[in-house]
Amino acid sequence: MAIIGKNIDKAIEVLNSGEVIGLPTETVYGLAGNAYNTEAVTKIFSVKNRPNFDPLIVHTSSIERINEFVTEIPEMALKLANKFMPGPLTLLLPKKENISDLVTSGLPTVAVRIPNHPLAIELLEGINFPLAAPSANPFGYISPTTAQHVDNQLGTKIQYILDGGECNVGIESSIVGFFENEVVVLRKGGLAIEEIEAIVGPIKINEHSSSNPQAPGMLKSHYAPRTPLSFWGEKSFSIKDFSNTGFLAFRDYNHVIPKENQLVLSEKGDLNEAAKNLFAYMRLLDSKGFSEIFTELLPEIGLGRAINDRIKRATTQE
Ligand code: TXA
Ligand code: MG
Repeated sequence: MAIIGKNIDKAIEVLNSGEVIGLPTETVYGLAGNAYNTEAVTKIFSVKNRPNFDPLIVHTSSIERINEFVTEIPEMALKLANKFMPGPLTLLLPKKENISDLVTSGLPTVAVRIPNHPLAIELLEGINFPLAAPSANPFGYISPTTAQHVDNQLGTKIQYILDGGECNVGIESSIVGFFENEVVVLRKGGLAIEEIEAIVGPIKINEHSSSNPQAPGMLKSHYAPRTPLSFWGEKSFSIKDFSNTGFLAFRDYNHVIPKENQLVLSEKGDLNEAAKNLFAYMRLLDSKGFSEIFTELLPEIGLGRAINDRIKRATTQE
């Protein structure tokens, strides 16, 4: 298993040697390596078992430093960056040559993010290269929100996990691109659409499509637990015995399923709290050995939209 600790010098030493580490951020934990080092980037793909056509997000510590590896920051992008970085926002910007095609899967844009986490920022300030980092889960599984989650799944493949505690936001960053002066959300995430629109006006939401070349990673069966997950409804009506059935609820318990088989995302109905709990609760239910898990959708406002997106992807069975 990997060493889990808060030693920034150790994390830097591992990164300098071309290896990858577990990186805490406010959204989810990342699997980070030197974005300028092809060997390190290759390692990220192999540790995650991630296909090469799914590009990585590049993390740095300040807006000034973004200019080290992008050719320009369009006006709308700069407005968003000034308002929400550091934070759960990823911007797609035209890349410089120092970002390899491996990082962007051949795309001319690079995804850029400044994590809002004190340990991540301290680490990024201590190195002279940005960090390429996808979420630190095996490809297709639920993203990790604690160092322990990372260790459970990738611990045998990496040396060090920087422990920044439980992620405050709990779902991945919102990804925003700029196409012919149009602002487009390619992944709903930890920054609510309403907040983005308050700065740049009405935006387009590029609804998921598994063949969408603009967001090659937005595959249908993402974030999926191992136990079959489906929506409470038709299928559940034919079940007579719910003793081995789990339930992931928004604010109220399901009346038919045993209470001890259920987890409630936020009893107060707070969408931010629900986001923070979402992946950890999915994991917990997945570990119980239930024959199936049911769930429900949340209100389509604020982070509810990103949560519903993740739940829908997790329930997709093909
Ligand atoms: O919150 C987050 O964004 C976390 C933390 C670790 O920063 N990272 C994360 O990375 O969620 P990952 O690799 O799991 O998801 C990145 C998504 C993928 O769907 C990928 O396809 C998309 O970003 N992406 C990356 N570069 C892109 C680009 N140039 N154009 C379009 N989509 C891109
Ligand atoms: Mg991911």
